[in-house]
Amino acid sequence: GAVSASVAQTNLHRDCRWYSVSHLSVRERIEKKRKAALVGGGQKRIDAQHKRGKLTARERVELLLDPESFVESDMFVEHRCSDFGMEEDRNKFPGDSVVTGRGRINGRLVYVFSQDFTVFGGSLSGAHAQKICKIMDQAMTVGAPVIGLNDSGGARIQEGVESLAGYADIFLRNVMASGVVPQISLIMGPCAGGAVYSPALTDFTFMVKDTSYLFITGPDVVKSVTNEDVTQEELGGAKTHTTVSGVAHHAFENDIEALLNLREFFNFLPLSNQDPAPIRECHDPRYDRLVPSLDTIVPFESTKAYDMLDIIQAIVDAKDFFEIMPNYAKNIVVGFARMNGRTVGIVGNQPKVASGCLDINSSVKGARFVRFCDAFNIPIITFVDVPGFLPGTAQEYGGIIRHGAKLLFAFAEATVPKITIITRKAYGGAYDVMSSKHLRGDVNYAWPTAEVAVMGAKGAVQIIFRGKENQAEAEAEYVDKFANPFPAAVRGFVDDIIEPATTRKKICSDLEVLASKKQVNPWKKHANIPL
Ligand code: HXC
Repeated sequence: GAVSASVAQTNLHRDCRWYSVSHLSVRERIEKKRKAALVGGGQKRIDAQHKRGKLTARERVELLLDPESFVESDMFVEHRCSDFGMEEDRNKFPGDSVVTGRGRINGRLVYVFSQDFTVFGGSLSGAHAQKICKIMDQAMTVGAPVIGLNDSGGARIQEGVESLAGYADIFLRNVMASGVVPQISLIMGPCAGGAVYSPALTDFTFMVKDTSYLFITGPDVVKSVTNEDVTQEELGGAKTHTTVSGVAHHAFENDIEALLNLREFFNFLPLSNQDPAPIRECHDPRYDRLVPSLDTIVPFESTKAYDMLDIIQAIVDAKDFFEIMPNYAKNIVVGFARMNGRTVGIVGNQPKVASGCLDINSSVKGARFVRFCDAFNIPIITFVDVPGFLPGTAQEYGGIIRHGAKLLFAFAEATVPKITIITRKAYGGAYDVMSSKHLRGDVNYAWPTAEVAVMGAKGAVQIIFRGKENQAEAEAEYVDKFANPFPAAVRGFVDDIIEPATTRKKICSDLEVLASKKQVNPWKKHANIPL
């Protein structure tokens, strides 16, 4: 101790002597650097950022985190490039093009990086990447989520392969952290080229409308390769990715709305895979309240649509449902809610859209959500009203077999508490897939309106009584036999037929019991989900 103290003192002494020559004490130099770091690329570029309706990297961090909770790291880090004039003082910015550190959201720990577009367009230097990797490593060590606020022109062109290496270092950490700590990306500016793969590897990608975009190559390259004319917005804007590609999970109006929503979203998540799903004080008057509206919500005719969201909102705490991908593959509904204060993941077929059929996109959407919940100890509640998989060449050629298998795989491997409510149709393979008893559903309920069968009565009769007379009679017999919950209930494939009004009460009390559920899958290196 004494030796190293004296070495440090000698160094300090040497430093002071040197600085006294430059007329600045170490303290003054520290202050100067800190001040410089706080203004990033300078007031002119900050003004330009504001003019576009964007906040700066630091303003974003402030809004995202609890007041005064931000603890910054690596404010003094500078890039180490000495080509293209980068070595000149005017091209050095303390902290470089990213702000990193840790903080709290409603008191809960989170690690954050926020790319600073005012410094070389937020482009990723080796130093920038190193800063991100450092906080990712710390997040993994202590078990806390990582939030990335992306606003970057991509690889720091002056640095070449150094920058590519930096990306790969981040990608590797994204993969290692997957399923260990939640990772969330908020895209708040450009994100192009290989840079898109970091957000793509994280659990959730949110975007800001009109100011953010994600693409592998920009419009100019697209034009030269495929001769398509397309704008940045059409190619990779928020609308494209939340309605067409399914790359992003949500789009928000502006920076402020996005950051405030991200805070709300964060409250649903556990800090790591070692933590149980968070329980908040319940704002709903009673966990065991009856919901009489549910008794009449399913229409009498089995072909008539209704909105599964009405059921979900009526059942969860305080109607508070954070829907994921609300505008993509709308035939399935997924999102987070709370039951008696406890976070749950909700999956529901949506009879309002394509009769709630499962297709390629809805299967993939559902599967990814179920796997997130399972990785992070979030119980899954599944509402079933599904007439089957969508038929047709488009689906078959697109690989519905392989994609539908993902949802089946996800439900089957999940070991978190699983509660299933069949509200109406549970037909064919889709019955098996939708968290059925056979896939280790813990509690499976049917409402009196449930119909569990291989297919609808009309189709069934056409096949088994083809060419026979008395089709109508046969159909009536089929309906009588199968268009009700008994065939499943007498075999124990559903645990009970319940009054819809009691659904909330039942789920809450089941979740209480299932809180101590322990189930382990056989040892494996990893499974081979059909990608
Ligand atoms: C270094 C960059 C930069 C970059 C922008 N700048 N991108 N510096 N490396 N990649 C600098 C600009 O020189 C400028 O500096 C400032 O950032 C702002 O840029 P502008 O062009 O003035 O801003 P704007 O008009 O808003 O355009 C933003 C932009 C554009 C669309 C991002 O800058 C752009 O196209 N940049 C290049 C994008 C790119 O091709 N990146 C490489 C992609 S390949 P001054 O000093 O004037 O403020 C890639 C591979 C990743 O990323 C691979 C991972 C595996």
